[in-house]
Amino acid sequence: MSGILAGKRILVTGVLTEASIAFQTAKVAQNEGAEVILTGFGRLSLVERIAKRLPKEAPVIELDVTNQEHLDGLADKIRAHQGDDARIDGIVHSIAFGPQGAFNFLEASWEDVSTAVHVSAYSLKSLTMACLPLMGRGSSVVGLTFDAQTAWPKYDWMGVAKAALEGTSRYLARDLGPQGIRSNLVSAGPIKSMAAKSIPGFEELADVWNHRAPIGWDLADPEPAGRGVVALLSDFFPNTTGEIVHVDGGVHMMGA
Ligand SMILES: NC(=O)c1ccc[n+]([C@@H]2O[C@H](COP(=O)([O-])OP(=O)(O)OC[C@H]3O[C@@H](n4cnc5c(N)ncnc54)[C@H](O)[C@@H]3O)[C@@H](O)[C@H]2O)c1
Repeated sequence: MSGILAGKRILVTGVLTEASIAFQTAKVAQNEGAEVILTGFGRLSLVERIAKRLPKEAPVIELDVTNQEHLDGLADKIRAHQGDDARIDGIVHSIAFGPQGAFNFLEASWEDVSTAVHVSAYSLKSLTMACLPLMGRGSSVVGLTFDAQTAWPKYDWMGVAKAALEGTSRYLARDLGPQGIRSNLVSAGPIKSMAAKSIPGFEELADVWNHRAPIGWDLADPEPAGRGVVALLSDFFPNTTGEIVHVDGGVHMMGA
């Protein structure tokens, strides 16, 4: 199989529906030659059904990133699928969650905020550490952020959680760099996924892209973000780490 991920074994978290950025990432990764394993959270039968719609059906391992037992058992479950030469060349972190209370900045409780930060930011570190025994020089960790440099309408503590994710990726890049492991993020524009539907006022946030993206933006197309993730998983960014690549139609650099 040829392609920019030929021969690579990639763990993809966060597939829920075909609108998931993770689903498109897994699809592009397989088309580029990768062997993909998925992890699923909650309704595993749903994830397994979606996994059948990939170019090649991928196995699904259960993973709640807040469950230490799941994290501790992850490497062994990957070994069970891959056998003695088990190895992970790339991890896709495509996970975020904020309770409804986290979308009201001034009223949010610490409980809601801590859940958002635990699931959406700290998990990049815990997921990577869970896979570390299977990783080596040239491995790549890629996560998904929503540009946390500015304050957005409605995004509130999820925006703070994304700022934490961006910092987490930089510190991972610092600490795993000596082992030859890279950590980067794709900063995606808005996509109408399940996660987006749970953001109250998502339409208001997304409307910015209708006016400010110089090359345009399609809210219904998660594939460009998936392609960006695959590029960062590949060997075409060998000396890039702690970076955030914007796949947002150019909105991040527009002044108005
Ligand atoms: N949709 C957008 O507008 C947008 C824009 C930029 C970045 N992102 C980011 O992309 C990533 C994927 O989101 P998406 O838009 O594809 O939505 P999605 O709803 O398809 O994916 C979110 C995933 O997070 C998983 N998840 C939630 N809690 C979890 C837990 N405790 N353990 C493991 N998994 C858990 C869900 O099962 C789901 O698969 C997220 O980090 C999101 O913030 C999304």
